[in-house]
Amino acid sequence: MISALSYIGFASPNSAQWRTFGPEVLGVQVAEPGPDGAVRLRVDDAEARIVIHPGEREQLAYFGWDVGDASGLAAAGERVGQVGITVRHDSDLAAVRRTVEVAWFVDPFGFRHELSYGLASGGPFAPGRPISGFVTGDGGLGHVVLLVPDLAGAAQFYGDVLGFKLSDTIDHGTSIRFFHCNPRHHTLAIAAARGMVGVHHLMLEVGSIDDVGAALDIVNERHIPLAMSLGRHTNDHMTSFYVRTPSGFEIEYGTGGVRIDDRTWTVAAYDAQSTWGHKQPASGRLVPQILAPFDPAPAPAPDPAPAAAPAGPSR
Ligand SMILES: [Fe+2]
Repeated sequence: MISALSYIGFASPNSAQWRTFGPEVLGVQVAEPGPDGAVRLRVDDAEARIVIHPGEREQLAYFGWDVGDASGLAAAGERVGQVGITVRHDSDLAAVRRTVEVAWFVDPFGFRHELSYGLASGGPFAPGRPISGFVTGDGGLGHVVLLVPDLAGAAQFYGDVLGFKLSDTIDHGTSIRFFHCNPRHHTLAIAAARGMVGVHHLMLEVGSIDDVGAALDIVNERHIPLAMSLGRHTNDHMTSFYVRTPSGFEIEYGTGGVRIDDRTWTVAAYDAQSTWGHKQPASGRLVPQILAPFDPAPAPAPDPAPAAAPAGPSR
């Protein structure tokens, strides 16, 4: 079953801007570009974990989930197949993603998921600027927060079908459900957005509060919009800020996230997102640009071209 977020792909008209935004602001390393000119970014020794493909509009192109091995892929694929969703194996895609094997499907909300294992190493990580490093390991790349039109249906799919476990909930006007698949407090969270589907943010965790502060200085010096100021979350205890990327979604850049031990963890309900900070800009709320009206009609089969950026919340 799914054990971590291994990699993630976006499509964007502004993909080229990530060649500077990535290393200079986030401190990630730029890897060799993809065959379609995609900007491929490293956060650890894996060859690349964040891929920004050139595209006509902002789009979450795919999730890459680590399922451990061939039997994990078979088990996850079978569970998805049991709810009537076609899972496609693609050896050409595995070569492009630098994994041993990939099978992919599109979920009921239009998000494309790739089940894979064996992401290749790219040698020692060299950060784009001096930082202590990104926290990955058994917690995977980070976490993603999605906006979904049907919170209960999404919780059922990501929980019962994909096997994510509920970490806790926050209801403070917006209802958010947090899910884990490894010790990271959440790898996937879903927030209710009536009639809409999209992506709010990708969280990258760094090793120290100094890494967070240094990044925040650069963001402020360059006048890059913050979606939320520095703050600390109630549930995962992450001390973080949210910066607008060149591609219309946010990166939550934080440190100190809680780790879950399933033997002792109890699911809690919170009525606030943050114990301090995480304030919206004085100019008003930044609305995610990877956000589209949800069309419950069946999605057309996405373009299976390995290097392209199909699917996503495109409908
Ligand atoms: Fe987050």
